[in-house]
Order: sequence, then C-alpha cells, then structure tokens
Amino acid sequence: MQDEILSLKEQILAAIAGAADAEALEAVRIRYLARNGALPLLLEKMASVPKEQRPVVGKAANETKNAVQAAFDSRKTELTAAADAADFDPTLPGRYEAPGSLHPVLQVRDRAIEIFRRLGFALADGPDIENEVFNFDALNTPQDHPARNEQDTFYLKEDGLAPSCGLDGKSKGGRRLMRTQTSTVQIRTMLERQPPVRIIAPGRCYRRDEIDATHGMSFFQMEGLVVDEGVTLADLKGTLEYFFRELLGEDLKFRFRPHFFPFTEPSFEVDCSRTGSQVKGREWLEICGCGMVDPEVFRQVGYDSERYTGYAFGFGIERIAIMRHGIPDLRFFTDNDVRFLRQFSTRIDA
Ligand code: DAH
Repeated sequence: MQDEILSLKEQILAAIAGAADAEALEAVRIRYLARNGALPLLLEKMASVPKEQRPVVGKAANETKNAVQAAFDSRKTELTAAADAADFDPTLPGRYEAPGSLHPVLQVRDRAIEIFRRLGFALADGPDIENEVFNFDALNTPQDHPARNEQDTFYLKEDGLAPSCGLDGKSKGGRRLMRTQTSTVQIRTMLERQPPVRIIAPGRCYRRDEIDATHGMSFFQMEGLVVDEGVTLADLKGTLEYFFRELLGEDLKFRFRPHFFPFTEPSFEVDCSRTGSQVKGREWLEICGCGMVDPEVFRQVGYDSERYTGYAFGFGIERIAIMRHGIPDLRFFTDNDVRFLRQFSTRIDA
C-alpha cells in the first residue's frame, strides 16, 4: 500500500510539472485530485490496511497529500503569471489618471498669503466650531445683535457635551456654533501672546444665508490683525492698498467709507474700482471691512489699551476670486464642474 501511494505521488507530481497551461492543469486536478480522482480512491483503501501498518501508511498518505497540493498551487500561480504577461499589449494606450490642481478659491488664498508674508504677517488659525463668547461677546457684539439670531447662525446641539469654555478657559463659553467670521482668531491670538502681533488668518466661515449668486452657507474669509505701540490708520490704509494692488492690479482705486463694526472704532468698508471695468454695472465694489481695534476688545483679552493700538481687517476670498476672474456666480465654486475648474488649472497638461 505504501509503495502504491508513493508511486502515485511521483506520477501526479510529474503530471503537474508537465501541465503546459491552466487547462492542462485543471485536467490533472480532475484526474488525480478531485473527489473521484485516483488519489482519494487509493486513500479510501486505507480502511482495509492491517492495524499495525496504519501509522506508516497514514504518514505516507499525509505527506503525499501535502506535497501534491503544494506543487499544484505553485504551478497554478506560475501559469497565471505567465498568462498575464502574455496578455500584455504594449501598443495599448496607458490608463490616464487625471492629476488634480488647487481650487481657484484656494489659489487666491495662497496668493494673498504670499503677499502678506512679504509684509511680515504670520499665519494664525482657530477652530471652525466656536462658541458665542469667541464669536460674539469678546468681539464686543451684544446679546441682542441680529447676527446672534437662530436664523442667521448655525448653532450646534449640545446634547451630552460638556459646556464650552470662555476666555479664561474656565468660565462658560455659551452655545457652540459654526463661526460666522474669522475675527474669532483675533481673540484666540491675543489671548495666546503679547504685542507686537502681526497675523493673518484665512479660513472657512458659516452663515444661514439663502443660497444665490452672491451668497453661500459657507465661504472663506481672511482676517488680519496688527497690534503694537503707535499703530495708526495710515498703516492700515497703506497696507491694504498695497495688498489689493498686488493682488488685483496696479490700476485699482480705493475708497474708505465710514461703516460700523462692533470690534473696531472707527470702522470702514473698503470699496475699489478698476478703470474701465465694472462689475454688475457698478463702478465701486466693496471688498473689505476694517478699522482700528476697539479698546473694549483689548480689555477682553487683557491688553493695555493705553499703551497699544492696532488695526484689523477681514474680507471674503470668493469675492476677490470673482473680481480677479470675472466670475458671475458664486455657485460655480461649489458645483465642482470640471469644465469650470479646468480653466483655473495650474497644470500645463490639463
Ligand atoms: N468679521 C467681519 C465680517 O464678517 C469682517 C471684518 C470687518 C473683519 C472689520 C475685521 C474688521 O477684522 O476690522 O463681516
């Protein structure tokens, strides 16, 4: 019996080695290894082997099964690899993976960062999920301000969360919300360090606006804050005019129009106009809010408002991108139609 098994083993191994393709190998499997194949049939006879021979015969049977299975598996892998290689057609076109490019809004953001870097501004950051103290109170925006209305701001459900923290990290911070402005980063930065401060903070903001050509529920802003001894309105004007001319063109004209923001006094809106080009039939387009930091804001963060003065500004990045490229509708930026996006690709092969 043992000899019979070993000779069948040699026979099967030879057949496996000789199988030239997947089909031939399958024929070997059916003939020798499948349910009614030669090997299982022979091993069935084990039952009639005298008891004292069983250990020896059993061992031979197991070794044979394992050896044959291993040989079969490795031959199968070999044949599959060979078949794949034979299928390879070097004349077929390659598979094209479209490379990405930065979104046009982020391109404008990065260009703005570059310009401010040259002017000595550092990048600062704050969380998108804020609370009422950072988004409103510390920015001198009272409880009854319309922006605090449920209809204007996204508040978070607080179920099961620990109360949010205020300015000292201990007192309560009020309801959590999606920040409506990057001005929150002014507060976070001033709490962390002493003057001089010279930062910009680009990031997303959220408002419950009806979505149309000029409004979305989420958009990008860039905030700026400069605090030091002797900072004046002239510094603010010079910096912003230089910045916008670098970004949008030398021929830009500016108008600083008195306005109101709770956290600056005096406050302005900056309008700009470009000779010969009108947007939406208007010569002047507002592009930026700004002003001198209100002493009340300094008091909130523990800065000495007798010693320091500062200016702040904030603008919407999409709006600048619209001006720069003459785009008629904000929704193009979020539809993500590649026919639109491709026009702003910085890749030469797009
Ligand atoms: N946070 C203001 C807004 O979202 C924009 C703004 C205005 C920012 C004046 C400022 C500023 O820093 O000084 O409408």
